[in-house]
Amino acid sequence: MTHDDLGPAGLPSRHLLAVDDLGVEGIARVLAVADSFAEVGRRANPKVPALRGRTVATLFLEDSTRTRLSFETAAKRLSADVLSFSAGSSSLNKGESLRDTVATIEAMGVDALVVRHRSSGTPHRVAAWAPGLAVVNAGDGWHQHPTQALADLYTVAGALGRPGDDPLACFAGLPVAVVGDVRHSRVARSLVAAYAAVGARVTLVAPPTLLPPSLEGWPVAGVSHDLDATLAGARVVSLLRLQAERGSGAYVPSLREYTARWGLTAERAARLDPAALVLHPGPVVRGVEVASDVADLPCALIGDQVRNGLVVRMAVLFLLLGHDAVADTGPTRLAAAPSARRGRQEAAAGAPRGAADA
Ligand code: NCD
Repeated sequence: MTHDDLGPAGLPSRHLLAVDDLGVEGIARVLAVADSFAEVGRRANPKVPALRGRTVATLFLEDSTRTRLSFETAAKRLSADVLSFSAGSSSLNKGESLRDTVATIEAMGVDALVVRHRSSGTPHRVAAWAPGLAVVNAGDGWHQHPTQALADLYTVAGALGRPGDDPLACFAGLPVAVVGDVRHSRVARSLVAAYAAVGARVTLVAPPTLLPPSLEGWPVAGVSHDLDATLAGARVVSLLRLQAERGSGAYVPSLREYTARWGLTAERAARLDPAALVLHPGPVVRGVEVASDVADLPCALIGDQVRNGLVVRMAVLFLLLGHDAVADTGPTRLAAAPSARRGRQEAAAGAPRGAADA
């Protein structure tokens, strides 16, 4: 696929439901646009008019701190109007179905709906029910959390540097260990798909009980039950939280034993490759999957992941919705080659300032 084959919205798909919707070109494009928004974030006024007149709604039916705040902040920084749906005080409590709730949101003239739900597949259902909306999956059950994987890739690329003009070159053959509750983790599923797409070599590290029942179709280089053996060769260590709310407690003898065998303790951190990067999507349960002091080491990029989650989500919303806005606001400063259509708009809009310019 070339950039000219990308859909009119700048991504291969109208929605972002899973990492596989993007392909390697889509991933590269999101990371490149995120880079231009990172520059905006350093300005005194970190807001741009790229999505003025657009409305983004968040529909979170499962707990969240950073993902929800991040999507809502991202939309506001793009000057979109933001509707925040609160399940606890909604008509879902009066017996309204999710489908009717979505139809109500759609009738408000919303352009994009960011959905989190405890059941895998819900964002796909929402996308089928509301064809007028761009649907973004903010985490569905055990299934996918694509923007978290994109934030992690952007974080790793930023830490490793981007030689030449290929923002993905740093991932070729990169040894990545994804450690912990793989079985119940949507982040793991999105990370594995994203790392595989960009050429990294992922090893899953988990007790047998916390691996998925089948790894068929998982594009991983290996699986290990020996954390100590795997850590030595890992350049990126991506830790996962035990998903207690999905019943993971039943799969480990005790938290103490889990930490002893699978936690990134201070002793293990001391034996990491000196250049290793430690990531965790949060929320971090200090003292369980990672020792509190280790979570605060300079090699732990947990704060960067949150900061980068914001610009990656700005990029996703912009690429899904910003197409028509380009002519109003000027084009985005795309590091990746623009599509022919976008290129024509850029020419029509004049100087290459654009979405990243206030
Ligand atoms: C993750 C999630 O919700 O899947 N958190 C997040 O979005 N940053 C990971 C987790 O909850 O463990």
